[in-house]
Amino acid sequence: MGPAPLTAAASVMGWGYRNALRPLLFRARGGDPELVHEATLALISKVGESPRLRRAVARLLADDHDPVTVAGIDFPGRVGVAAGLDKNGLGLQAWGALGFGFAELGTVTAQAQPGNDRPRLFRLPEHEAILNRMGFNNAGAPALAARLAAAGVVRGNGAVGVPLGISLGKTKTTPLAEATEDYLASFRLLAGYADYVAVNVSSPNTPGLRSLQDADALGELTRTLVAEATRTAADGPPVPVFVKLAPDLSEDALEELLAVCTAGGVAGLVATNTTLARDAVAGHRYAAEAGGLSGAPLAERARAVVAFLTARTELPVIGVGGIMTAGDGRAMFDAGAVLLQLYTGYIYAGPALVRELNALRSAHAG
Ligand code: FNR
Repeated sequence: MGPAPLTAAASVMGWGYRNALRPLLFRARGGDPELVHEATLALISKVGESPRLRRAVARLLADDHDPVTVAGIDFPGRVGVAAGLDKNGLGLQAWGALGFGFAELGTVTAQAQPGNDRPRLFRLPEHEAILNRMGFNNAGAPALAARLAAAGVVRGNGAVGVPLGISLGKTKTTPLAEATEDYLASFRLLAGYADYVAVNVSSPNTPGLRSLQDADALGELTRTLVAEATRTAADGPPVPVFVKLAPDLSEDALEELLAVCTAGGVAGLVATNTTLARDAVAGHRYAAEAGGLSGAPLAERARAVVAFLTARTELPVIGVGGIMTAGDGRAMFDAGAVLLQLYTGYIYAGPALVRELNALRSAHAG
């Protein structure tokens, strides 16, 4: 596929987004990032619900895909929506039209919960970064299951045009000792709709959650979910279970987790979640806010984690963290990622970035 004209169109779109739309969006709703996010997601949801709008948007944005099969899942393109952007699946039907090759919905928890107090989402435009401590605000696993059922989604049926990952987390009020049952409750409700399930043990915003990355805890959790996947796979392969890791783990810890994931039958990894590190944004007025940092300051570390993992495992790795440009995407592929995900880059660079990344990979693959 020849990426050149697409790249040209994408750079015009990208310029328009950065210089016209983004300034408006960043000032909208009194400059409250969360309100802007909700409004944008509502608009995306409208696009998804209208076949006519979907087709129009797809003509503009959804070209030049580079299909790939990973963990038995056929992905029409390699660039996905990262978890947290569409927690409740509101944009379910729109992501394919917007050029994405898959979407990871959630993180959802077994019970609906409000998340942390606002404000809990901060932009750091000087660093092309976001800091968040949302705390898994979500409508709960039963609500997402109902939405997916209403949209006719069944695992593998392609009802929304792209594969769907579903990210699971722990309900805040559930004690850590009961975490496995909590994940299992969500898993039972949602696995039938998911092309893959991502086990989120790496959010910094639920107290104690990251301790589930300890080898014993992760071993128990993954073994339980993989066993449930196998038990409930009537005919056909069980739903693949992915594990999403934090960027703040030592190399020893990563090695240990790789061993646990491999032994536990995990199908793939997502690296990375947001970081607790603040060195790259030291002195910024939000630097001392609690939460996880994403975007440009995370790029190098996320890439290093992906490179570390892919050098040591055959498990496929979804690379996420600080992909703000096509160059960042190329570097993430070079680090060994087989698929990419975006969150902060989508906010700063807009929809054109997806198209540029899709074109890049086609060029890359020759
Ligand atoms: C996130 N992220 C996230 N990850 C996850 O597994 N479950 C979640 O619910 C959320 N929620 C969430 C909210 C907000 C506001 C942000 C900015 C991020 C993390 C996200 O999926 C991704 O791993 C990181 O943001 C790094 O990628 P980017 O943003 O640098 O592209």
